[in-house]
Amino acid sequence: MSSSKMTIFHMSDIHLGESGVHTQDFRRILDGIEKKCQEADNPLLLVTGDLTSDGLREEYEDFAREFLKIDVPNIIIPGNHDERNYGSSVFEELFGSRFKTFDNDIIALFAADSAEPDNDAGHVGRENYGRIREFFTKKDDKVKIFALHHHLVAIPHTGREHNVVEDAGDLLAVLGEVGCSLVLHGHRHVPWYWKLNDMSLYCTGTLLSRRIRGAHSQAYTRIELEEGSASFHLHEIDGTIHDFAEVQLHR
Ligand SMILES: [Fe+2]
Ligand SMILES: [Fe+2]
Repeated sequence: MSSSKMTIFHMSDIHLGESGVHTQDFRRILDGIEKKCQEADNPLLLVTGDLTSDGLREEYEDFAREFLKIDVPNIIIPGNHDERNYGSSVFEELFGSRFKTFDNDIIALFAADSAEPDNDAGHVGRENYGRIREFFTKKDDKVKIFALHHHLVAIPHTGREHNVVEDAGDLLAVLGEVGCSLVLHGHRHVPWYWKLNDMSLYCTGTLLSRRIRGAHSQAYTRIELEEGSASFHLHEIDGTIHDFAEVQLHR
């Protein structure tokens, strides 16, 4: 691998099947990302759940028909909407495991399913802490990234808190212990960034849901990793690009 730079295209909360969410918009955005990937350094497309509105097979198949056409390295995990109506079984059929990992010379990424059937609350579970610890062992030369659907710290401008990961405290302690420097998630439909000790936690907004909040628009995030820093750029549905944040990453 020649470049030490990396570009992560982070999308979440697509909600195909929801009223007002159009498959042709999803197609157009995927085409745009695929084009950008041709010029990006070590591109990766990360999808952190809520692909569908209700976890129904027809919604999943609509999503897969478009998503599986693109030729870009990708990591995809489900969200709470995808596990409605026992949708996790359709997810596994179309996209494989609900837990995935990705490694290259620059990053080590562990992506976890934080959703449970017919439950909107987030949960990762102590039974998974061992494999998270094991995955990040001996990877101190890479940026360690943990991805999930739900948030680990409450997000402002989203109203009364009721969906933060149930075992957030214990999970944050595990992530701190293994030297994780970046957490990427969705669920709250509001872009936001927190710094917690040596960890940066980033929530991307919703890609297409109409359940946006305040002045925010639908968007995905382009994350540029370079020389120990990460910059976050919001690509809104109308093509507008906003530089959102830049952080130094702990290694
Ligand atoms: Fe969502
Ligand atoms: Fe969600």
